[in-house]
Amino acid sequence: MKLLVQDTSRAKKAPLLVLFALEGKTPETPEGLELPAAFTKGFDGKARQTRETFTDNNSFPHVLMVGLGDGDKLDSEGLRRAAAVAIRAAKAREVSGVGYYVGSSVTELAGGEEDTGRDMAEGAFLGFHAFAGVKKETKKDALKGLTLWGAGAAFKRGAKKGEMLAAACCFTRNLQDASGNNMRPRDLAAQAKKLATRSPQVRFRVFDEKAMKTFGMGLLLSVSQGSDEGAKLIHLTYKPKKKAKGVITFVGKGLTFDAGGISIKPSSKMDEMRYDMSGGAAVIGLFHALGDMDVPYEVHGVVGASENVINGKATKPGDIHVGMNGTTVEIQNTDAEGRLLLADCLTYAQKKTKPDTLFDLATLTGAVIVGLGHEVTGIFPSNDGLRDTLLEAGERTGEYCWPLPLMDVHKEAMKSPVADLKNIGPGNLGAGSTQGAAFLSYFIDEGQEWCHLDIAGTAWNAGSRDWCGGTLGTGVGTRLLIEYLERR
Ligand code: BES
Ligand code: MN
Ligand code: ZN
Repeated sequence: MKLLVQDTSRAKKAPLLVLFALEGKTPETPEGLELPAAFTKGFDGKARQTRETFTDNNSFPHVLMVGLGDGDKLDSEGLRRAAAVAIRAAKAREVSGVGYYVGSSVTELAGGEEDTGRDMAEGAFLGFHAFAGVKKETKKDALKGLTLWGAGAAFKRGAKKGEMLAAACCFTRNLQDASGNNMRPRDLAAQAKKLATRSPQVRFRVFDEKAMKTFGMGLLLSVSQGSDEGAKLIHLTYKPKKKAKGVITFVGKGLTFDAGGISIKPSSKMDEMRYDMSGGAAVIGLFHALGDMDVPYEVHGVVGASENVINGKATKPGDIHVGMNGTTVEIQNTDAEGRLLLADCLTYAQKKTKPDTLFDLATLTGAVIVGLGHEVTGIFPSNDGLRDTLLEAGERTGEYCWPLPLMDVHKEAMKSPVADLKNIGPGNLGAGSTQGAAFLSYFIDEGQEWCHLDIAGTAWNAGSRDWCGGTLGTGVGTRLLIEYLERR
């Protein structure tokens, strides 16, 4: 779908015209277009409410109204959702083009022209995307063009940015939605390699198991040893054109399938574990956006890609393995594999990239879904400034975050009688997501600024984000962390 951005005065013609109605108000219309009273009568403008009509007007034969809800409560997520609702309707009606008329009454309430342009485009492209799947016949979209009518250069700048951010997010979603046999560790690496060719500022490296052995990554390899697919360590680097203002490194959990290993998962919903690479996907997707931007930091993406399955060599409960930083771990539960893989990736990331700030993104625990559900990511920031920036970035992008505690009691609970650590805490401690973070904290250097993001709930199955994946992948993390980089 092609994007065209024009001034509101140029809104003259569209196969489908979309108007946005604030609650209790009739929507603004292009000059010369009168809406029949019967069409607007009784339309409340409640958020995501729609009504459409066919007209005698040759320029605008088909008009759709979309509600924005209470104008005083209008935020970027509200705009994004309305834009997505409209694009999904346009797609379903099989029109060739759609024009959104965004008048000043909306821009003023929605935080100005640039932000409104961005949210409209972002919502439309996020809502337009659908995972192609693997079918004999694929249906081509009739909808080829979106025109956004708004005011000024700022609106246009915002719209272009929204389109770019949505493209990065949809790239992440495509990686997520691929089935486990089509997105193996080597496929994830191939995708990252191909992505790096988009920009001369992005560099790709990959290490195989032999190289990881020389690094001493015994914890990561303890996860992959049960699989006939070799693990891959993916390392992407973005360098700014000018001297970098600092180094920021993102680590991603890239379990292309998590069967649990010998501590095997129940079969119900096990298919969902193809999404266990969502942290890695978000990190790779970040470089899709970075290639299109001018971020002043050196940025690294480190993704540990592996399967957690079972063969005769698989790690057994009770086995002890040694990490890249020398820490020994008693593996009591082979299904708590994400933390093992991340531990070595975090060590690698600190040793090789020396970041000012370090992040890791992982579908780490089922417990975070119990605590925060599918709409909020659990974060463990090492200081309040980092926490506040992430909360703000979450509000702006609709990828909401909430901080969870990490205390000395939790860290103590991860100690093993036979090794330095064990990979699960005592059953009666609870706080499963915090236990995961507590384990990871042993692999973070003293004084290192760090945040662990548990995206197990937000990465897919976000039913109320119907515009962004529905039950499929949401691409969570990519837009959030780009926003973080911009706010830093
Ligand atoms: N990938 C899972 C976490 C997960 C579970 C994500 C459900 C999304 C939905 C992770 O590797 C895992 O299995 N975690 C265990 C940890 C436990 C064994 C301490 C969990 O959460 O049950
Ligand atoms: Mn697991
Ligand atoms: Zn997992």
